[in-house]
Amino acid sequence: MENRETQTGLEKMNFKTADGIDANIEKLAQIFPEAVTETKDANGKLVRVANLEALKTLLEGKLADPNEQECYEFIWPGKSDAIMEAAKSITKTLRPYPEESKNWDSTQNLYIEGDNLEALKLLQQSYLGKVKMIYIDPPYNTGKDFVYRDNFHKSKSEFDEESTVRDEDDNKLVQNTESNGRFHSDWCSMIYPRLKLARDLLSDDGVIFISIDDNEVHNLRKICDEIFGEKNFWSMITWQATNKPMNAGNAKYKIQNCTESILVYGRISMRNHDPLILEGRGAKNYDKMNEKGFYRLEEIQQRKNIGIKRSDKMVFSILNTYPKDGYRWTIGVQTARTLESSNDVELINGKPYRKIYKSDEDNASFFPLWNDFSDNYGTSELGKSELFDLVGEHGFETVKPTSIIKKLLYHTTEKNDIILDFFSGSATTAHACMQLNSEDGGNRKFIMVQLPEKTDEKSEAFKAGYKNICEIGKARIRRAGEKIKAEHATTAPNLDIGFRVLKVAESNMKDVYYSPAQTSQDLLDSLESNIKEDRTDLDLLFACLIDFGVELSLPLKSETIDGASVHTVQSGEVPDIIACFAENIPESVVREIASRQPLRAVFRDSSFKDSPSKINVKEIFKYHSPNTTIKVL
Ligand SMILES: C[S@@+](CC[C@H](N)C(=O)[O-])C[C@H]1O[C@@H](n2cnc3c(N)ncnc32)[C@H](O)[C@@H]1O
Repeated sequence: MENRETQTGLEKMNFKTADGIDANIEKLAQIFPEAVTETKDANGKLVRVANLEALKTLLEGKLADPNEQECYEFIWPGKSDAIMEAAKSITKTLRPYPEESKNWDSTQNLYIEGDNLEALKLLQQSYLGKVKMIYIDPPYNTGKDFVYRDNFHKSKSEFDEESTVRDEDDNKLVQNTESNGRFHSDWCSMIYPRLKLARDLLSDDGVIFISIDDNEVHNLRKICDEIFGEKNFWSMITWQATNKPMNAGNAKYKIQNCTESILVYGRISMRNHDPLILEGRGAKNYDKMNEKGFYRLEEIQQRKNIGIKRSDKMVFSILNTYPKDGYRWTIGVQTARTLESSNDVELINGKPYRKIYKSDEDNASFFPLWNDFSDNYGTSELGKSELFDLVGEHGFETVKPTSIIKKLLYHTTEKNDIILDFFSGSATTAHACMQLNSEDGGNRKFIMVQLPEKTDEKSEAFKAGYKNICEIGKARIRRAGEKIKAEHATTAPNLDIGFRVLKVAESNMKDVYYSPAQTSQDLLDSLESNIKEDRTDLDLLFACLIDFGVELSLPLKSETIDGASVHTVQSGEVPDIIACFAENIPESVVREIASRQPLRAVFRDSSFKDSPSKINVKEIFKYHSPNTTIKVL
């Protein structure tokens, strides 16, 4: 990353996301140091560049030239732009919204509103290699989906004519219809840079699950082979998305597709990964015992009876208890009778629980995770009704049931892992995460990303007050969280059901901040401040967290020292960051901050530049805390 010094000799914050090309040069230098050299850029600054001739020599005789010979590759018009799009650095930021958040001070979950391409760039430094599991459910390219317009898609005028839907910032969303000559290409160009950035966030043992249907599964698999590596393809899960027959009008289709796919790719190959087993993942607690041995109790679940004849058979009594109106059991009558006759079912607070013996699960301790998610896994009808129960009319057609995401989480995450969904829709992943945490005492943390796509003004969701999809997502997390917490009040009293709301926004800094050093210095002298007037200390603090690559969920504390507001971000013994953005900071405040020996300290450059006392910040820190990284903005 670029380093810029000010006149005071203190390094400036960058407030720009990492440049992907620079990161590639760095990776290249690690494998082939001789293929990286230095040269001067257009501004006369020394920069590191790849030495193509040196690289060619290193690979002599093993170089392909697709212009000269046929090569195996997957290309589409716009692919190079899509690759460049992932590498481009941006100056945007994430602005915090404590008033729209829940449990702002204590939660470790994040809800990010904005385009996920930008959000992924902004998360790069803070979450590099830290995310254990990513689940995404992108638009499937059905010909009706709205896709956010990346810069490379089309010219503005072309774009303006095509679309009618907008997000909160009035950016138009493109409806990718089949008549578009670049139908598949546009979708590939949309997903490619996002997956490329997502891969870098995965931990070494991380795994990504991608829901998709027949429209793009073939292209997605090729793209994933390229980005994650063919040998890191783990599986393609087939999920039964519906069991509702199509209406008669569609009877011309002789075969009715009722399944969708979930592509699974690991950061490393499955052979080198921990086996996916039930035991140990959920840390099951066999805390009861009878003459047959240790056992645990598991509630017999009810599911909405969606009116299929077969389901009526699932409405019967277990220990004289019936499912509630319109619901059915998730076990059959035979199983229930066997459980009753062997005394392996009991009622707790009026709800039936079955006994599951350790010895039975021991035998199946290497019970595989089958890639067939059909029957009893929950369909999208269940997903929709789960959402309806929490938020009312929502207009969502593509909601996943929590059961499948919970299952994926159960098999691939430990109790403290970070989970990401950057096409989060109604936030099913957050719901499933809280649900699993409540069941196994886990503290998995979620990061949801969702575009504030406006709801249709004629829709029921709009009439119910949900102006955009983020409002539905946030309402769902709030209500699901409260419900789960109430249900597990004694077993999971510390369950984290909060979330910090952050929104992708233009930089906090005025354009002058990003000008080449000399110009910016001249301009700065004539300006009151290089910070936009509407930005708060909290905005600046979050921009610093992003720039330093510090997790955005860390605890924050603000206090006043000698009249100046001082902000501390601290997770362990040593403060991660202490920042003071006040003008004219008294020397006593600098001394106090230095004496607390933070890993990083941030000030406003202008606080020192014109100050008559010319505090020698560097000297103070050299004396009290020589290892602190000091930066200014
Ligand atoms: C298929 S839905 C996800 C549904 C979700 N799995 C659920 O259960 O509710 C895809 C979501 O991605 C969102 N989306 C599309 N493009 C996006 C982008 N560029 N950034 C963020 N979200 C986007 C859409 O608004 C939509 O809500």
